Amino acid sequence: MTIIAPSILSADFSQLGAEIQSIEKAGADWVHIDVMDGHFVPNLTFGPPVIQAVRSTTKLPFDVHLMIERPELSLHDYIAAGADRITIHLEACSHLHRTIYSIKEKGLPVGVALNPATPVSLLAPVLEDIDMVLIMTVNPGFGGQSFIPYSVTKLKELRSMLEARSLSHVDVQVDGGINAQTAALVREAGANVLVAGNAVFNAPDRAEAISVLR
Ligand code: DX5
Ligand code: ZN
Repeated sequence: MTIIAPSILSADFSQLGAEIQSIEKAGADWVHIDVMDGHFVPNLTFGPPVIQAVRSTTKLPFDVHLMIERPELSLHDYIAAGADRITIHLEACSHLHRTIYSIKEKGLPVGVALNPATPVSLLAPVLEDIDMVLIMTVNPGFGGQSFIPYSVTKLKELRSMLEARSLSHVDVQVDGGINAQTAALVREAGANVLVAGNAVFNAPDRAEAISVLR
């Protein structure tokens, strides 16, 4: 079954707790939390204190997407704040293998994200060690951008890599420009976890928006 993870980047930040409860009620599976440091991406959002502040508003898993330089320096703070899963960017890690294992040692599922121009082949050395691959379908930093069509090619390449190595259990997440139209494309190409910000938070009926994506 497709997992739907609305991104709170598109939520009303002045009502973040209520917004999270609203998507829970609307049928969301995970809460996608976009952490941005203003260096790895040209935007700055929130860090551990905000995650901690909203942790008690829901039981849904916090799917924390770290769009930050050198995530190894602060990932334990995100775990302490209530992250249930951590996704780091391959491009932000000079020691990716070591950083993956520092998350695994804490018992959390670990994801590795690839920016649009990063080939999936770079994941070959760590595919056995991770729980999820995040294929960015926009350039990270902002919600409401348009889907990059080449993402479909990358998804198909990734799925065949996973199948060839009997790793079909690894989740394939997509993030950016996911809506009713692009959801069908990415599901067909092998994605099973869909992040959506605008398509859910700006929908007149959030429950309907989530079921359409699913
Ligand atoms: C972009 C973020 C995405 C973004 C998705 O850097 O990682 O999660 O919020 O927003 P939409 O679905 O509006 O493109
Ligand atoms: Zn994200």
